[in-house]
Amino acid sequence: MSDHDLPPARRDLARRYEAVRHHTLSLAEPLSIEDQSAQSMPDASPAKWHQAHTSWFFEALLLRPHLPGYQPLDDSYHYLFNSYYEGLGPRHPRPQRGLLTRPSLDQVRAYRQHVDLHIRQLIARCDDAQWAVIAPTLELGLHHEQQHQELLLTDALHLLSCHPWRPALLDSPPAPAPAGTSAWLRHEGGLVEIGHDAAAEGAGFAFDNEGPRHRVWLEPFEIASRLVTCGEFQRFIDDGGYREPRWWLSDGWATVQAQDWRAPLYWVDASDGDAAAGASGATSRWAVFGLHGLRPLDPAAPVMQLSFYEAAAYAEWAGARLPSEQEWEAASSLSGIAQLHDQAWQWTRSAYHPYPGFQPLEGAASEYNGKFMVGQLVLRGGSVATPPGHTRPTYRNFFPPAARWQFTGLRLARDAR
Ligand code: AVJ
Ligand code: FE
Repeated sequence: MSDHDLPPARRDLARRYEAVRHHTLSLAEPLSIEDQSAQSMPDASPAKWHQAHTSWFFEALLLRPHLPGYQPLDDSYHYLFNSYYEGLGPRHPRPQRGLLTRPSLDQVRAYRQHVDLHIRQLIARCDDAQWAVIAPTLELGLHHEQQHQELLLTDALHLLSCHPWRPALLDSPPAPAPAGTSAWLRHEGGLVEIGHDAAAEGAGFAFDNEGPRHRVWLEPFEIASRLVTCGEFQRFIDDGGYREPRWWLSDGWATVQAQDWRAPLYWVDASDGDAAAGASGATSRWAVFGLHGLRPLDPAAPVMQLSFYEAAAYAEWAGARLPSEQEWEAASSLSGIAQLHDQAWQWTRSAYHPYPGFQPLEGAASEYNGKFMVGQLVLRGGSVATPPGHTRPTYRNFFPPAARWQFTGLRLARDAR
């Protein structure tokens, strides 16, 4: 369908819609049909489910309420692919998404096409007043799908990590990580402005949890120019880090004991007689599983797939601490700071709470972020699995403190002396 008759704002969004939807399919490309329907743990979802749920989001928030006469492809999908929206009705339990062997992957692809066709119609046919209502939700749907693009990768990687072959998701080998030495960068602190300013000239998209922009007082601090590496983290392990309660928060230590943690999630101990580790070519003790399969530990690569508890314990051992999310954001414009958005999300010491004056979005989208603002920690930055252009300095990712299957690492901070 040609879009050259559309007004520029509609054409721009329509083209970005096509690009984002296509990117999701390209991420699923290396996965077999079987790969795409399995669920490796309650927190992770099958790739097939991600492809359906992102379509459901456009259907539930745009097509059903705003496209006159819209006929869903299948009414039952509204129940199957609702993630957590109480206001949109009951839903299939999250831990059982892997049992949804029907609809088939082909049927989910047809569902995507059905939604795409009608989103194109909606963009082309609505009047200007409707467009003003629809455009922000369409924009939200694109950023939502980008979040699920990262989740699709992290969840598929977790699934493959459970297979004794440890298959590679991507085949081209990773570029060697240029770590270099870490420098302490100083920030003078003082009164800083934090968060997204929706009223600013040319303000782009931000999620509701990134605002409002507000003032915060910071004491002087120092922050590391790069992320903690696998080589550095290995020294923590070799020093008995996972056996020494003094480095750990109480809840963290309890989790280490209960889960028998000895290393980050995807580190494989060759001395345990792991067959895939033996075949990985690792000459040292550790091999690390990632998007490119199981590879010898690269001491210069950022350490990833660790929990907040492990990040906080490492920082304690290193004689430092994690930055607050406000320190991270203020430091993001310091010259010399590296690996902000392109390697691993960085755990902060900040609880995921609403900013002063926080207002959730209206309607169904009010459940998007705000209701999760208890019991989780903020992560800043972005990762190798984040789609290009998705993240920004005010972006607030969040996970519970024990979560460690995401691309999560750490950057150290300390009080200025
Ligand atoms: C921001 C990654 C924690 O995983 O639920 C997906 C992203 N929000 N659909 C999540 C999200 C709605 C969210 N995280
Ligand atoms: Fe979602």
